[in-house]
Order: sequence, then structure tokens, then C-alpha cells
Amino acid sequence: MKVLIITCSPNRDGLTAACGEAAEQGIKNGKAEPVVVWLNDLTLSKCKACDNGWGTCRNQGVCQVLDDFQVLHQQIGEADGFVVISPVYWWDMSESAKALFDRLRRCEAMKDHNRVKGKPFLCVAAAGGTGIGTINCLASMERLFLQMNSLQFMDLSAVMGDFIGVTRKNRSYMLEAVKAASEKMVLDWLK
Ligand SMILES: Cc1cc2nc3c(=O)[nH]c(=O)nc-3n(C[C@H](O)[C@H](O)[C@H](O)COP(=O)(O)O)c2cc1C
Repeated sequence: MKVLIITCSPNRDGLTAACGEAAEQGIKNGKAEPVVVWLNDLTLSKCKACDNGWGTCRNQGVCQVLDDFQVLHQQIGEADGFVVISPVYWWDMSESAKALFDRLRRCEAMKDHNRVKGKPFLCVAAAGGTGIGTINCLASMERLFLQMNSLQFMDLSAVMGDFIGVTRKNRSYMLEAVKAASEKMVLDWLK
């Protein structure tokens, strides 16, 4: 099993990175293969809402904006599960996370069988400031995965990993939670 860890911070040495390391360890403990992607190293333009609203994303599941999205989209298709870790910026996901997920959602949400649906996921919000906005960031992540799964809530419980908020105050014990949740996600999936 291959799990894509999508880290959405420009900082290689911050809270997001620490969460990424914890997830990596948990995935390895579960005997799966972690693949780490640093979104801010990639060129990901914003969605252009082609053709007055929808482009090829709707009917073909393909984004017309050509950049690093295409390779990442393929990696997402090849992954068996996801850990998404975003720093909390402005009570929300980071700009790089939004750039990716705005486009990914358009490609996937309208299809019955897509590259995300039915695969387990774990969402982590890393809030290094006051911690305010952590819940809101996690709510954005929840909405995103619900929309891409378009499943009944009961079905979704089979693939839902967890939604974890890590702050400066709770990091000492919540990093352990990220590790444990990553391992459990893999083990549950492999059952
Ligand atoms: C533009 C910007 C907005 C931010 N907004 C929030 C926020 O709403 N809540 C919060 O707790 N921290 C906020 N922070 C602090 C980041 O969450 C904190 O720096 C976090 O550790 C960033 O992740 P990193 O350590 O991976 O760089 C903000 C930081 C930036 C740069």
C-alpha cells in the first residue's frame, strides 16, 4: 500500500514538517510505503475556471492548465491513501493546498469512479499561531474530501481516517496522535 503525504507548507522545518515526519513513521510502522510531496516546491497555478466555468475537468477529469498538476494527479491516482497536512493560514488551508485541491476537486468530484473516492484519508491542520482557525481549516478539508467522495456518510466511515488539529500547545501529544492515526489508517485499510 502506498500513502501519499501531501505537505502544504513552504517551511521544511516547521510544524507541518513535524506532522509529516510523524505520519511517515506511522505509515512505515503499518508496513506501508509513504511518498512525501512538498506542494510548495511544485508549480501549481490557480484554477482558471475555463470556458465560463467548466473545462475538460468536468467531462474528462483532466485539467487544461498545464503545469506540475498533471504528474501529481497521476501520483494521486496511484496512491492507496492520503495524509494531507496544511498549515493553518487565515483560519484555512494554505494557498498551495487550495491551488491543488480547487483543481483536483473539479477533476474528481463529478465522476462515479475517481482517483480519490473510496481511499482512506487523514487530514491534519498545523496551526503554529494562536491555534484559532484550526477547526475551520479541518472543516474545509472535510468538505473537500466529502465532495470528492460523494458518498453517503455511512459509506464514508469506512475510508475516513481522522481530522487532527495540531497546535503549538498540543504538539507534544498530538504528533503522537498523527503517527498513531497514520498507522491505524494503514492497518484498517489492509484488514
Ligand atoms: C499568512 C499566515 C496566516 C496564518 N494564520 C494563522 C491562523 O489563522 N491561525 C493560526 O493558529 N496560525 C496562523 N498562522 C501561523 C501558522 O499556522 C504557523 O506559522 C504554522 O506553524 C505554519 O506552519 P509551518 O510551521 O509548517 O510553517 C499563519 C501564518 C501565516 C504565514
